[in-house]
Formats: sequence, C-alpha cells, structure tokens
Amino acid sequence: MKRLRIYGIQIITLLLMITSCSRAGEPTKVKEEQPIDKGDLHKDKNILIVYLSRTKNTKAVAEMIHKKVGCSLVALELVTPYPDHYQTTVDQVAAENAKDYLPQLKTRIDSIEKYDIVFIGFPTWGMQLPPPMKSFLNKYDLSGKIVVPFNTNAGYGIGNSFETVKELCAKSKVLEGFSTKGGVERDGILFVMEKEKRVQLEIQNWLKKIGLVSL
Ligand SMILES: Cc1cc2nc3c(=O)[nH]c(=O)nc-3n(C[C@H](O)[C@H](O)[C@H](O)COP(=O)(O)O)c2cc1C
Repeated sequence: MKRLRIYGIQIITLLLMITSCSRAGEPTKVKEEQPIDKGDLHKDKNILIVYLSRTKNTKAVAEMIHKKVGCSLVALELVTPYPDHYQTTVDQVAAENAKDYLPQLKTRIDSIEKYDIVFIGFPTWGMQLPPPMKSFLNKYDLSGKIVVPFNTNAGYGIGNSFETVKELCAKSKVLEGFSTKGGVERDGILFVMEKEKRVQLEIQNWLKKIGLVSL
C-alpha cells in the first residue's frame, strides 16, 4: 500500500515535469517592437516651408516645424492684401471661393524644382483652403515632390482644405497633415501660440509619425 502511494507520487511528479517542460519548450511569443522612429527622411533633402498666416498662428507652427527640419521658410504674401476687418475678409474670401478666383501672389519662389519636400501651412478660411494657398498650388508644379500640409483653425472645423491639397497636388506624395487649434478671430482671439508647449509636442510626435524626424 505504502509502495503504491510512493509510485503514485512519483508518477504525478513525472507528469508535472513533462507538462512544465513542454510549456517551456513552446516557442516564446516575443512582442515585436515596431520602431516608432522611421528615420530622418528630411536629411539630405531640400525642404521648403511655405505658409499663409494672418494673425500669426500658422506662422508660429511653421517656425516650430522649421526648428525641427531646417531649410527655407517663406511667408505667402499677396499683391493686394486682405482687409484688416475680419467680416469684410470673410465675405471677400467667400466671393473668391464662389468664383474660383486666385489672388495674385507677391511672394516668388526661386527654383521650386530644387526642393524635394514642400510643407504648406494655412489657416482654414470659410471651411476651405484659403484662396492664396490655392494660388500657390496652382502656380507652382509640385509633381514628384513630397507635400506635407499643416493647418491652424478656430476649432469649428478644418473643412475640406486637406482634401483640396490632395486634389491640387495629384502628382505629389501628400503625407498625413497636421492640424491644431489656433485663434478665434471671429471672437477677437488672435494670436494664441505664445509659449505653446502643447503644440510643440504635437508637432514633434507628428513629424516622428510621418518619418521626417527621429528624435
Ligand atoms: C476669413 C476667415 C475665415 C475663417 N474660417 C474659419 C473656418 O471655417 N473654420 C475655423 O475653424 N476657423 C476659421 N477661421 C479662423 C482661423 O482659421 C484661425 O483663427 C487660424 O488659427 C488663423 O491662423 P493665422 O493666425 O495663421 O492667420 C477663419 C478666419 C478668417 C480670417
């Protein structure tokens, strides 16, 4: 009886050893760490950052991007600037959009062909891409280049501006855009990007995600 019990214990121990060995023998599932950092796509590339800005929020974002990727930073200016008065500008923009009017640019870009990557920054105007940015994309051929859109808006919508960029840059590789809340000129809130750490971080993460910077 005593012997039987000993045999029983030995068998159970053996079985336990076998199962634990087979578990240990199973292939271990290693969690593959996908590198967040896809590389420094911007290195050795000629970059142009063009932006339109009325109350300097998009300008501030453009400058933050410029700090990260370098190269040329250009403000888009018009031969005939928009009025200072907000509502008059809203009405003018609506009329221009209705007629597909493209305002004449004062800004000239020398040798656009030398750039590999073109960032284009704009506020949302009337839920659309502002006419001056439409003028820019109409005037300059960005075929074969990487286009990177970024935007500020008042928080009531970016509208179809990113889609319009894709339509107007059909022969470019348009990367995922960046959009953040800027001023609310309608309510008298103009420049809000002073010491904007949140936006700096958002930009850093976005540039990393689209593979333009690694740090
Ligand atoms: C003519 C005009 C139209 C605007 N339309 C919109 C709009 O449709 N949606 C929105 O969220 N903000 C709208 N805004 C607010 C701006 O997009 C927002 O204040 C932006 O941050 C301004 O950028 P900036 O400081 O670079 O000019 C409009 C502003 C102006 C002047």
